[in-house]
Amino acid sequence: MAPNSALTSPLNADAKKTLLRKIPHGVFICGVAEGEEVNGFTASWVTQGSFEPPLVVMAVRADSTSNGMIQRTGRFSLNVLKADQKDLAAVFFKPQKGVGGRFDAAPFTLGELGLPILNDAVGGVECELVGQVAHGDHTVFVGEVKTATLHADGPALELASTGWQYGG
Ligand SMILES: Cc1cc2nc3c(=O)[nH]c(=O)nc-3n(C[C@H](O)[C@H](O)[C@H](O)COP(=O)(O)O)c2cc1C
Repeated sequence: MAPNSALTSPLNADAKKTLLRKIPHGVFICGVAEGEEVNGFTASWVTQGSFEPPLVVMAVRADSTSNGMIQRTGRFSLNVLKADQKDLAAVFFKPQKGVGGRFDAAPFTLGELGLPILNDAVGGVECELVGQVAHGDHTVFVGEVKTATLHADGPALELASTGWQYGG
């Protein structure tokens, strides 16, 4: 078999879906702020990308409200939820009345970069955008962690424990 034959085979969609869903994920609340407006949404496509400088990588739906806010402001926060905060995570992926309305369910404080840090969560980091790849239905943002607030160290919410799927 020619070495490159696998590259020209049609993608096995079922295998792709099964395999990509094996990637373990946490469940986070991403915060954004633009002028007087704040917004937040549930994000699970998040990972660390560098020790030094500390980088995080997050994929954000191209058609979401928050994507444009990140593009325009060049910053975002990531809040780490406690293991028992599944209900709150559900609030943050559902439609909301107005931009930022989801925060009615979760009081926050603006951090040093002006980004929402939930008052009740394991904690949160604020990031400055250092790179992005816009290709496909999500934009991959790379952020450098500039501030870190730890409220209460403990187990964090993991996607596997929720029964939800986001991936494949
Ligand atoms: C379990 C789960 C995980 C999600 N993870 C992401 C994610 O990593 N990135 C993303 O852009 N949207 C993700 N979403 C979808 C967003 O939370 C949703 O599109 C949200 O409405 C976007 O809000 P916005 O339009 O106000 O920015 C996820 C949804 C669920 C149910």
